[in-house]
Amino acid sequence: MDLKLNGKRALVTGSTTGLGEAIAKLLAAEGVTVIVHGRDAKRANAVAEAIAIAGGRAQIALGDLATDEGADAVAAQAQEGGAIDILVNNAGYYHHLNWTTALPDKWIDTYQVNVLSAVRMIQRLVPSMRELGWGRVIQIGGGLAGQPIPMQPDYNASLAARHNLAVSLARDLKDSGVTSNIVAPGAILVPAVKELLEKIAPQHGWGETWEEIESGCVRDMVPNDVGRLGRPEEIAAAVAYLASPHADYVSGATIRVDGGTIRSAF
Ligand SMILES: NC(=O)c1ccc[n+]([C@@H]2O[C@H](COP(=O)([O-])OP(=O)(O)OC[C@H]3O[C@@H](n4cnc5c(N)ncnc54)[C@H](OP(=O)(O)O)[C@@H]3O)[C@@H](O)[C@H]2O)c1
Repeated sequence: MDLKLNGKRALVTGSTTGLGEAIAKLLAAEGVTVIVHGRDAKRANAVAEAIAIAGGRAQIALGDLATDEGADAVAAQAQEGGAIDILVNNAGYYHHLNWTTALPDKWIDTYQVNVLSAVRMIQRLVPSMRELGWGRVIQIGGGLAGQPIPMQPDYNASLAARHNLAVSLARDLKDSGVTSNIVAPGAILVPAVKELLEKIAPQHGWGETWEEIESGCVRDMVPNDVGRLGRPEEIAAAVAYLASPHADYVSGATIRVDGGTIRSAF
């Protein structure tokens, strides 16, 4: 199926690794010029080079989205070759703190990186989408937004904020040709998640091999109907659909890609 994305320009924040890297690579394979973003030039270059080797087009934008200055720099670099048609707000971070150890300063940090980063990029890039009369804002959210766990309360709450702001934005974009939607991953196997699970595996008694650890984690932490963790490419596929003109009539929606981890009908 032709996703009709050829010639578009996309900024994928936090695309030096993990979900963002998979999203950047899939959009590039669909003919999108992708702006690979992160704070680390070496990692950004590696992803951009891999895209170029595969025959795609990639540029780089570097900057810390937890600050206004960083966001200014990223927006300027991203628009050097033309306006951005597709903004994927993916940059974010998570940890393994709990209600005792996640102190208010940590909550502020988490909001800066996970929520205000998106607000900053929306405010810098959506005005030109409005002018062009077409655009996409895709927010990476997560199942923990609506089904929080006892751990990482600041992170759970930051995901809820992402979902909420994306729907508010959709309403604000009425009649503009620009849509705002959410892709809500379950637990997805990226290097950072693998590292975290290997670290906590002994305390849960999940076993030694990766297969044992994944199976123990799915059983105890993220039971789902498919019986495994998700893969980054599965998130990228949902983003590519929402980015495409095939999704012109979809706005303010959430696509869950979680194997059925979230149990509710709506
Ligand atoms: N993996 C999952 O299971 C899962 C599930 C639900 C939601 N999510 C969400 O999906 C997104 C990606 O997750 P991931 O697992 O792929 O994470 P990851 O592997 O840790 O990658 C995070 C990306 O965000 C960038 N980043 C972090 N802090 C930044 C900052 N202050 N300014 C600019 N860039 C920053 C990192 O870039 P540099 O370090 O190179 O600067 C990196 O490219 C996150 O927002 C996460 O909340 C993930």
